[in-house]
Amino acid sequence: MTKPIPCPSGEIALVPSVLSADFSCLRRSLKKIEAAAYWLHVDVMDGHFVPNLSFGPGVTRAVAGSTSLAVDAHLMVERPLEFIDVFAASGARLITVHTEAQDCLLCLKAIKRLGIAAGAAIRPKTPFRSAAAFLKEADLVLIMTVEPGFGGQRFLRAMLEKISGARRAINVSGRKIWLQVDGGINARTAGLAVKAGADSLVMGSAVFGARDPAGFLRNLRLKLSRGLVCQKKLKKF
Ligand code: DX5
Ligand code: ZN
Repeated sequence: MTKPIPCPSGEIALVPSVLSADFSCLRRSLKKIEAAAYWLHVDVMDGHFVPNLSFGPGVTRAVAGSTSLAVDAHLMVERPLEFIDVFAASGARLITVHTEAQDCLLCLKAIKRLGIAAGAAIRPKTPFRSAAAFLKEADLVLIMTVEPGFGGQRFLRAMLEKISGARRAINVSGRKIWLQVDGGINARTAGLAVKAGADSLVMGSAVFGARDPAGFLRNLRLKLSRGLVCQKKLKKF
């Protein structure tokens, strides 16, 4: 059993997305970043909710068994309720379902009944108010900062306002809820997302495309903790 997802504590959680890892040596790649990452993110795609296919519970189990880090499963699937038990059994300690998918509230309740953390995700075109109804149940809100389905896309700058709105709503709720962003996060956009209120940053290509993924994470964590990530010109994204 991997570690549980910790509660938000003011620290910024850097969360590598396995989607961009080298699958020919997955365990070795994950071991290299183990000490520098906060937890790991596994993207599950069904070819319907998003136009791509990715991993199932078998890969999630392999990821969870490869390191001591906690694992979150981001379910980009149309009918998540059917898969909650199997992903929990595969070692996911946080399961995130989309508010646009079927039975989101039922899913969040079912996830929590299993004793693990529950996340509610929203696509770029979905307004935050659609997720506000889930704040009573969610342990994490995920604002997608690209259209879900593929790694390596550009950060959608228009999402910054949504992140700020979500941060305000989370603070008003008084609950300890992670505010996660996913898509196009790199050393530049990380600073923007954190400034807007995010405290959990999913990063795929930026981490696994770096020459030294662990060094990249350590460096970014240091810069974020010192508020040093500068707001470079947005056209550079
Ligand atoms: C996209 C996935 C992301 C993806 C992010 O649908 O949800 O988790 O791995 O990849 P990058 O960081 O490369 O944008
Ligand atoms: Zn994801």
